[in-house]
Amino acid sequence: MRIAGIRISHFLRAVLVAGAFVFTATGALADDHFRPPTVEKDIKTLPTEGEYAPVRDLLETCVYCHGLNSASREPGMPVLSGQHFYYSYVQLKDFAAGRRASEIMQPMAESLEKEQMQLVAKFFSEQSWPNLGYRGEEEKVKQGRDAAYAGECTACHLGNYVGNSRIPHIAGQQKEYLLKTMMDLKNDVRRNAAPMASLFRTYSDEELEAMAEFLADF
Ligand code: HEC
Ligand code: HEC
Repeated sequence: MRIAGIRISHFLRAVLVAGAFVFTATGALADDHFRPPTVEKDIKTLPTEGEYAPVRDLLETCVYCHGLNSASREPGMPVLSGQHFYYSYVQLKDFAAGRRASEIMQPMAESLEKEQMQLVAKFFSEQSWPNLGYRGEEEKVKQGRDAAYAGECTACHLGNYVGNSRIPHIAGQQKEYLLKTMMDLKNDVRRNAAPMASLFRTYSDEELEAMAEFLADF
């Protein structure tokens, strides 16, 4: 979906400001007449001067869904604050190139210039990761921990699953997002990380769910 001639950020802003609709995590349009107070608060902290001033409006759009100092708006929307610069930048490029399918992010990324992608990714990488306070079910967390040990996830994602550079921070991420993206990798919907896809194919859906529970609770 590309909306000819209209920058998607402006398009989305107009839609959001009008307060009529918002895209849900499934890509459908849903009624939404208010902005939650956490979003209002987060938006107030966005810089109006300096390096990020040129992308301030854009950041407002991102924060609307992804949150900033608070949790993202919906559990299917990943936390970006504190995510590594290089990883986020690569994802934006991959959405734009169609290597990673998303009805929401693809048109948005397509509308961005390279410099804008770099600036927004850098901005989020300089924020601290919000504590979502998710507490998983004990049995599932244990099953997920065992599955993660077996897959040697920390060899790349590092101890505490905080990642580095091209390797994403996955500890304390939204559980539903973690599960969705692991399933997308397994099922070839997200096609920008072949080694991860092969690894996830060795796990049952149930084990992936347990790992999502373990990581969200970390
Ligand atoms: C309407 C809601 C919405 C808006 C606005 C939005 N995003 Fe997203 N974003 C999502 C969803 C949903 C996903 C998860 C897509 C998927 O399932 O793969 C996502 C995923 C991402 C990812 C991948 C994260 C990861 O951990 O792999 C990045 C990076 C990203 N968005 C950046 C941005 C930036 C930068 C902006 C502002 C220019 C923005 N998003 C605006 C909903 C949104
Ligand atoms: C060989 C190194 C390596 C190993 C081992 C590894 N990962 Fe990854 N993982 C990566 C890289 C690199 C990416 C980012 C791929 C990309 O650029 O899209 C990633 C992405 C992910 C993502 C997507 C994060 C997001 O924000 O969308 C999840 C979830 C994940 N890995 C979980 C795991 C789990 C669970 C294990 C163990 C079962 C594991 N990984 C093992 C390297 C690794």
